[in-house]
Amino acid sequence: MIEETVDLIKKKIQGFNPEVGIILGSGLGELAEEYCDISIDYKDIPGFEASTVKGHKGRLVFAEINGKNVVMMQGRFHFYEGHSIKKVVYPVKIMKKLGVKTIIITNAAGGVNSSFNPSDLMVITDHINFMGQNPLIGENEDSMGVRFPDMSEVYTPEYVELVKNVGNDAGIDLQEGVYMALTGPSYETPAEVRMARTLGADAVGMSTVPEAMVAAWAGMKVIGISCICNSAAGVSTVGLSHEDVIAAAEKAKNKFKTLVVEVIKKL
Ligand code: HPA
Repeated sequence: MIEETVDLIKKKIQGFNPEVGIILGSGLGELAEEYCDISIDYKDIPGFEASTVKGHKGRLVFAEINGKNVVMMQGRFHFYEGHSIKKVVYPVKIMKKLGVKTIIITNAAGGVNSSFNPSDLMVITDHINFMGQNPLIGENEDSMGVRFPDMSEVYTPEYVELVKNVGNDAGIDLQEGVYMALTGPSYETPAEVRMARTLGADAVGMSTVPEAMVAAWAGMKVIGISCICNSAAGVSTVGLSHEDVIAAAEKAKNKFKTLVVEVIKKL
């Protein structure tokens, strides 16, 4: 299947060799509207699914950004949509086969750390996989990575520093911290958010971890950026809604775009 997918994509992109991959999270897809040389809808790609979540479009976008060839996922596959965990990470394997060396994985998240504010951006330094799933279960694909991969530096430390420096230079305040992934689709209870904080999480969300694990396993450099869209349940008294999450991402989108574009320049 992987070969079929890669062949089809290569035919469509005709010699374009992406070196950077980006997964655009909820409300953060605009980068792929601004920079789009070639696009392929997921529905036309074998092994991909049409995306169903509001705020997610469902296409692969290829573009040159700041002199680098980039492939962007405008919309991702979430485990909570009912996709198998293998489906969720399939595009990352395709990126690897297309030659991507560095992946920037972004998401909308809830702030567990009480010093975070809605529309803050957080550089992910590490994660906690609380999805009860591991995308590497099953026969190991030796051409991609080893059976028992080291996860001590999933988020490339030198790139965490690079993102922080770029933020600094661009006047964008950045938070940093640990992202905990739960399956969703329900938001957490206040007790679950207290648990997340006790376990060392600064943000909670429903994505990113499976993709980051597969990318690290496959030897890619990984950058994770969360848009803190709300205070997680119980951190503030405000209730949670997907509309508010999208609105907060919308508010953050300009600094998010600036950050990503400037980071790409420095890779
Ligand atoms: N929890 C989990 N996922 C999220 C949240 C949240 O509070 N906000 C945006 N995505």
